[in-house]
Amino acid sequence: MSVHVQNSRMTTAKLRQMKANGEKIAMLTSYDFTLASLVDEAGIDMLLVGDSASNVVCGNNYTLPITVDEMIFLTRGVVRAAQHALVVCDMPFGSYQVSEEDAVRNAIKILKESGCDAVKLEGGEEILPAIRHMIQAGIPVMGHLGLTPQSVNQFGGYGLRAKEEAEAEKLLHDAKLLDEAGCFSIVLEKIPAALAAKVTQAVSCPVIGIGAGNQCDGQVLVLHDMLGLNQGFKPKFLRHFAHMADEVKSAVGEYISGVKDSSFPSAEESY
Ligand code: KIV
Repeated sequence: MSVHVQNSRMTTAKLRQMKANGEKIAMLTSYDFTLASLVDEAGIDMLLVGDSASNVVCGNNYTLPITVDEMIFLTRGVVRAAQHALVVCDMPFGSYQVSEEDAVRNAIKILKESGCDAVKLEGGEEILPAIRHMIQAGIPVMGHLGLTPQSVNQFGGYGLRAKEEAEAEKLLHDAKLLDEAGCFSIVLEKIPAALAAKVTQAVSCPVIGIGAGNQCDGQVLVLHDMLGLNQGFKPKFLRHFAHMADEVKSAVGEYISGVKDSSFPSAEESY
């Protein structure tokens, strides 16, 4: 069932207002026009063209291989679909770590060529100069702390982050820096719920959680995961809101049978 969709587009100012009003923010990933249209029509607040496209769309084990041009290609379809949602494009690995100039140049390219509203990048104090330059250039920036998949080789896996006091303190410090620098929002991925709640209280911008408990200002999930399309992936934080892998396989099975026994196409389906 479709939720009532406001006529006006979501903005970073409205997201801040939602936090102030205690109204939760719902975000999902999208990578193509057709699914993004449905998600937007259902009333989602933000669409994220995540670099998880590297896994979900391209079949890689990591987010690292996807390029700026590939992200732009995918984001264009999502932007065409979005009538209401604010569209955020992930800056892929290597597009913002080399230098501040490089980061701003790539962010401008992504905004100009894809038409998205904002970019997201992973990291704290280490990438603060790049974030400041982007914000000075007028680019809305979303931060991402905790489990930052582009650093998987440094972390040695996708486990829970910031369990220990030192890492938790650094995360809180980083979140405050990103907030002060002017990030319009921050994603917190796979960290203890109590820490996420503390960060959410400590910063003025909306905090969006994934595997970070329910005290954040909003939630994000990978669309294919929550639709149950990706059968092999079921971490604790993920809820399957549908079981679409079964539906897809059953529909395809019926189609194959119809073709094999010549019941498809029928006379009514023929010219
Ligand atoms: O790439 C992605 O899908 C993300 C979300 C998991 C937040 O960054």
